[in-house]
Amino acid sequence: AAEDLIAPSILSADFARLGEEVDNVLASGADIVHFDVMDNHYVPNLTIGPLICDALRKHGVTAPIDVHLMVKPVDRIIPDFAQAGATYITFHPEASEHVDRTLQLIKAEGCKAGLVFNPATSLDYLKYELDNVDMVLLMSVNPGFGGQSFIPSALDKLREARAMIDASGRDIRLEIDGGVKVDNIAEIKAAGADTFVSGSGIFGKGQDSDPNRYNGIIRQM
Ligand code: DX5
Ligand code: ZN
Repeated sequence: AAEDLIAPSILSADFARLGEEVDNVLASGADIVHFDVMDNHYVPNLTIGPLICDALRKHGVTAPIDVHLMVKPVDRIIPDFAQAGATYITFHPEASEHVDRTLQLIKAEGCKAGLVFNPATSLDYLKYELDNVDMVLLMSVNPGFGGQSFIPSALDKLREARAMIDASGRDIRLEIDGGVKVDNIAEIKAAGADTFVSGSGIFGKGQDSDPNRYNGIIRQM
């Protein structure tokens, strides 16, 4: 089984000092940086794009950057994120006219590719694309905002996705996103997740002056 990864969602970071916030979660034990891209069209919020990803790389971030695209259309922003240093690029199948083509495009740009499933979206796409994904991301909230509550039906869906991934024999990460906190991460892991996004569960929990301010919370995960 793959090693567990903690992926703080910078959506809940202090954007006025983003570089420092990312440095601090990584210094405190986080493994990858979850980067939420929202366009006020596919989802009702507007966040950050390739410029900020590039800025984090130029700041010196070497950890994998996990770009979660909540944008429509998807394809035209992919080369920009590849250029900006994205490691993973995941997208919602509802936001692409040609899901297989988008996966191929991400890989052709040199990134790892993944599909994201909203709470009410079935895993049917995955059945046909298991050979083409490096990551499966299950939403345990409706996309658009941090700080929402974990939707319990995501646990059954995790078990379903875990079975499909294991049966494939491929090295595919199973990521969960939304409402993940110290107090529910154990049951989420037991349901099959190996990559844990947490935004409001991590950021803001510590003394601003402490470079290891997220150590306590991340180590408990
Ligand atoms: C929601 C985003 C999440 C969000 C999670 O659309 O995809 O990554 O930041 O935030 P929390 O952990 O606060 O639910
Ligand atoms: Zn996300």
